[in-house]
Amino acid sequence: MTESYETAFNSALADREAFWAAAAESIAWNKRWERVLDSDNPPFYRWFPGAEINTCHNALDRHVENGRADQLALIHDSPVTGQIVCFTYRELLGHVAKLAGGLRELGVARGDRVLIYMPMVPEAVMAMLACARLGAIHSVVFGGFASNELATRIDDAKPKVIVSASCGIEVNRVIAYKPLLDEAINLAAFKPQSCVVLQRDAETASMIDGRDHDWNELVGAAAAAECVPVAATDPLYILYTSGTTGLPKGIVRDNGGHAVALDWSMRNVYGLEAGDVFFTASDVGWVVGHSYIVYAPLIHGCTAILYEGKPVGTPDAGAFWRVIAEHGARAMFTAPTAFRAIKREDPDGELIKQYDLSKFETLFLAGEHADPATVQWAEKHLGVPVIDHWWQTETGWPIAANCMGLDPAPVKYGSATKPVPGWDLRVLDFDGSEMKAGEIGALCAKLPLPPGSLPTLWNADDRFVEAYLDDFPGHYHTADAGYVDEDGYVYVMTRTDDIINVAGHRLSTGAIEEVLSEHSDVAECAVVGAADELKGQVPLGFLVLKVGAEKSPEEVAGDVVRMVRDQIGPVVSFKTALVVPRLPKTRSGKTLRGTMRSIADGEDYKVPATIDDPAILDEITGCLKSAGLIS
Ligand code: COA
Ligand code: AMP
Repeated sequence: MTESYETAFNSALADREAFWAAAAESIAWNKRWERVLDSDNPPFYRWFPGAEINTCHNALDRHVENGRADQLALIHDSPVTGQIVCFTYRELLGHVAKLAGGLRELGVARGDRVLIYMPMVPEAVMAMLACARLGAIHSVVFGGFASNELATRIDDAKPKVIVSASCGIEVNRVIAYKPLLDEAINLAAFKPQSCVVLQRDAETASMIDGRDHDWNELVGAAAAAECVPVAATDPLYILYTSGTTGLPKGIVRDNGGHAVALDWSMRNVYGLEAGDVFFTASDVGWVVGHSYIVYAPLIHGCTAILYEGKPVGTPDAGAFWRVIAEHGARAMFTAPTAFRAIKREDPDGELIKQYDLSKFETLFLAGEHADPATVQWAEKHLGVPVIDHWWQTETGWPIAANCMGLDPAPVKYGSATKPVPGWDLRVLDFDGSEMKAGEIGALCAKLPLPPGSLPTLWNADDRFVEAYLDDFPGHYHTADAGYVDEDGYVYVMTRTDDIINVAGHRLSTGAIEEVLSEHSDVAECAVVGAADELKGQVPLGFLVLKVGAEKSPEEVAGDVVRMVRDQIGPVVSFKTALVVPRLPKTRSGKTLRGTMRSIADGEDYKVPATIDDPAILDEITGCLKSAGLIS
């Protein structure tokens, strides 16, 4: 019988160690833990200290040993190349063990970092698992980031080896990855010893003698490597995410707590069993890809779909339904923006009717606010529950969800439903006191966080404490604001920092501003996230030029758009910069970004009492009107 949500939630709060020790029984350990939770050094907490584990063994070997050898582990469905390639658990294990052998030949050992800069090809998954097999720490960098961003991550993670591919394939163009990688290594102060490059048919990369190794040659010559047991508390990966400055935060994920939490979430949050097919349309460069394309489905014995395509344009807005039907997916997970794109092209859901979706049971949405219109459109046309759930790169798995394996609750539109068992969610006022039901405050989780969430930032314990734990002592501050209603439903309203969410991609306006300020004609700038019908938000830049600027306002605006694309990457979707005479500021000199955003969104706004000169707001409005951005 399905356990009730209340029972699970209350037992996880009442005795968290017993709760997670029970969940840990579904995982294979090389050595059992001495304690379930080490709370001796708050605010640092460690799950399963003393235990030894190998995450790759849990994702592959144990399933091969336990009767799943011939079940499909991974389906690479790639409309951009017209190929579908399937791997059973036995086959995937074979590839991963050989690649691990090749990496070992290059000197990769337990604790070494390996950076992975790859498109959505099965070799990206193999590279992640091969690192896990050796006890090495991978850091996957999303392919839509440019060389500068890659260089920052190389300097922080100091990888011994970088694994990459000759190219990625977007809807209508091939993107050569290798020149971006070469440039990043040039820019970085730290130099990796070796690069492993997968040559794809669409593009052949030029190789640097002595440093670069051809994937097939390396793997062809390698002996299979066995799993190296590591401490449960050892890092499995570092995943960089936008912080409030240009320096991204290296989120650390451990091995033991991660395996336990993800495995538990598959059954209880996603309602899936071993053998089920799970389709997560995201990218391995994001946390959703790490957790629900790769690790959770494999650890749980499911079949994972790796989709190299888009919701629309590969070839049409029926692409997701084709994938679900062709591979028999029981559940799908993507960002609401993908559904907005589909809805725009196929408003009446005509393409949905062309496919047999009889095995499809649930759609999960996360990554940004799920607007009720999109959720209702999906419900109406798919005829399945649509579950909005809330989480972050830092947490690695959902904080709030309608748990499909635990007696699901009725949906309330606009809410991510209730805190997932293990999360002690609180809504706090500035002074740390708890808000009443329905009142907006800072969404925080009382420490300790459940397993799977970040234990710290890579080589930056102080930054970890300062960024997440200092504001509300004893709590993790999510940097989201929201409220919990009288029925316990969670509503996530807005970020309280300068992070914006562009098509489900998390970006820092501070990082974009750093690029704009580099232009020699820019005196001052501000970037805000303006509302966008498709992408949720898009960055909009405001520039104040220096007196005697050399270039015209149009030229400077064009320059900075190119600079952001070249330095951060196309994924930022930074297309508009507007030259204004001044920026609105408070009397103490703080730029009023929130007011600028309201003006850009055409919303009514209150003139802030602290504003230095209210006339600036009319000037900004005038500039936006002349540029045709508002009416
Ligand atoms: N490598 C190189 N470039 C990439 C890239 C990659 N892996 N991924 C995206 N880009 C480029 C795109 O080609 C595009 O370039 P352009 O400005 O020259 O057109 C730019 O980055 C923006 O890409 P994207 O955000 O994908 O926007 P889009 O306009 O091409 O497509 C959507 C819009 C809604 C279809 C798309 O954003 C989407 O599928 N979103 C799903 C969101 C998602 O998976 N989020 C992950 C968290 S769950
Ligand atoms: P990322 O770290 O890229 O996963 O982004 C995390 C941020 O995305 C969160 O802090 C939220 O601001 C936003 N987010 C994720 N899921 C949701 C959701 N279901 N509803 C509202 N915002 C969300």
